[in-house]
Amino acid sequence: MYGVESAVLPAYRSRGVGSMLMQARFDVLKQLNLRGMVAGSAIIDYHTAPHLSVEQYVREVVAGVRFDTNLSKQLHKGFRIHNIIPNYLPDDPMTLGYGVTIVWRNPDYQPEKRPQAVIQPGQYRFNLRPSHP
Ligand SMILES: CC(C)(COP(=O)(O)OP(=O)(O)OC[C@H]1O[C@@H](n2cnc3c(N)ncnc32)[C@H](O)[C@@H]1OP(=O)(O)O)[C@@H](O)C(=O)NCCC(=O)NCCS
Repeated sequence: MYGVESAVLPAYRSRGVGSMLMQARFDVLKQLNLRGMVAGSAIIDYHTAPHLSVEQYVREVVAGVRFDTNLSKQLHKGFRIHNIIPNYLPDDPMTLGYGVTIVWRNPDYQPEKRPQAVIQPGQYRFNLRPSHP
């Protein structure tokens, strides 16, 4: 599965909404018996550390010594980094143009089973939890 774009209004971020959107995708790809998901992640806080090379910035986010509004949350959900993408968002002042390819592997994938073609849409309840401090 390829994930294009998900966004939560800033006032509602870090309260579990993005996590539920991501879980809904994981549920769909498990129902379809897909191998996993590939997505682009805009490294939205790179502009706060422009003195670092993009490789060093990403390394520090992965190590947990630096928090990135997008990438840290995606890593927390089990995504892993595949590669850095220059010109992901050209001229973007937040990411300085960079993104990374992130990959999530479906732990329940059964290669011997054919991927399913049809899914039944699930119903999701969105209960906000308290903000992170
Ligand atoms: C990326 C985005 C959709 C995430 O949505 P969100 O509602 O803020 O995400 P959540 O609150 O569900 O957090 C996701 C995970 O990160 C963790 N997390 C959230 N805020 C955190 C913080 N400040 N510190 C540490 N972990 C944090 C959560 O615990 C959660 O994991 P869990 O469910 O396993 O506990 C949102 O930040 C966004 O809209 N960003 C801007 C738009 C954008 O650029 N989208 C992505 C394009 S690549």
